[in-house]
Amino acid sequence: MSSAAWRVNPGGPLVGRLAIPGDKSISHRVMLLGAIGSAPLEAQGFLRSEDCLATRRAVEALGAQVEDLPDGGVRVLPPERLHAPAGALDFGNSGTGIRLMTGLLAGRGIEAVLTGDESLRRRPMERVAAPLRRMGARLETCGGCPPVQVHAAGPLQAIDFLMPVASAQVKSAVLLAGLAAEGRTVVRQPAVSRDHTERMLAALGCKVEAGDWGAAVTGPTRPTGGRVTVPGDFSSAAFFMVGGLLAGGDAPLELAGVGLNPTRTGLLDILTMMGGRIEISHLREECGEPVADLRIWRSELVGIDVPPGLVPLAIDEFPALFVAAALARGTTRVRGAEELRVKESDRIAVMARGLAAVGIHVIEQPDGLLIEGGRMTGGIVDSGGDHRVAMSFAVAAARATGPVHILDVANVATSFPGFEQAAASVNLAIEATRPGAAA
Ligand code: S3P
Repeated sequence: MSSAAWRVNPGGPLVGRLAIPGDKSISHRVMLLGAIGSAPLEAQGFLRSEDCLATRRAVEALGAQVEDLPDGGVRVLPPERLHAPAGALDFGNSGTGIRLMTGLLAGRGIEAVLTGDESLRRRPMERVAAPLRRMGARLETCGGCPPVQVHAAGPLQAIDFLMPVASAQVKSAVLLAGLAAEGRTVVRQPAVSRDHTERMLAALGCKVEAGDWGAAVTGPTRPTGGRVTVPGDFSSAAFFMVGGLLAGGDAPLELAGVGLNPTRTGLLDILTMMGGRIEISHLREECGEPVADLRIWRSELVGIDVPPGLVPLAIDEFPALFVAAALARGTTRVRGAEELRVKESDRIAVMARGLAAVGIHVIEQPDGLLIEGGRMTGGIVDSGGDHRVAMSFAVAAARATGPVHILDVANVATSFPGFEQAAASVNLAIEATRPGAAA
């Protein structure tokens, strides 16, 4: 557990305009697809968060070169062939980094050990390893979790694979392996999962088929290089969407350059169903992804039963949604969200404990939460080292009746470096505190 902590006083209103930093999922894919391309790939808006920087270091250890451009972007220069790294590849807190890289390396039979921090070493890897073995890859997990050892292997065979869970990381890992396999690799999904890999592969000239059913690539093939722009991360915008609805002023809170990929925007639909007023303007396309500006109006939210079909489309936004539900009128029920238990923390348990610590009545279910909206008091919340839990409680604090102390916040830098400054710029003051200061 890190000793970094925050104290957030009730306050607001949250007002002003915020440019949303680059999308984490897409930034990982810039590094991975850039490293196996046939020419350099330049990306504007690459997110320099700890997770994406871990993936950057990993591709560098495999022989790619990455340059920082004067305009803030990056250029990835792929080698002719990736080589085995000298040491273990450390993905820190990043499930996306380790899972996608496992597919990429297994597909090419590159000997490597992939590992990460304590949280990552508890997360399931067999969901990725099993289909890769079916393709002919040789790899081992440690009791189902990282470290993962990938061994040298011959060319893989294309497979037709039905994923047991709707996971974009599993789908992407198999597709990345499939790029190096002979023939058509098909991944079918039980529900829609995010499709950034498919969109970027198509933008970089690979033969890819994609739809609600899943995706397929025909290999062997290699992305071209080129230029892409990384949209703002919807998942980072989510905290300010909820903050603006709960604690906005008379004018809307404006969020600029938010990626609105339809496989990611479940929270927008859920908040709208709860009575939230969110206006979308300047809809445009960047890197094959829809992008827009959002205006968030302070709204009286009401509790709802969240439609199960929206769960996978909002999977990273539940910490923020739970906070919205805690301050809405009435009860909100979320079911069918058991995947939340295997994210950076067990987000069902950690959010239930955190909400209870600030006076909210919550009932924990195996696959979700039942939250009775009410008055939020001050209190001490342990984020469990989970970046999204920490940021969710920070915006919630604007509406609490006393200060909220949030423990173990260092991992916010894995997805949103500069979150405190961004929050301050829209009138949410977050104070870094010393260990023990909250007691
Ligand atoms: C991601 C996919 C999602 C999401 C994660 C990022 C990705 O996980 O929760 O934060 O970039 O592919 P799933 O693999 O469960 O879809």
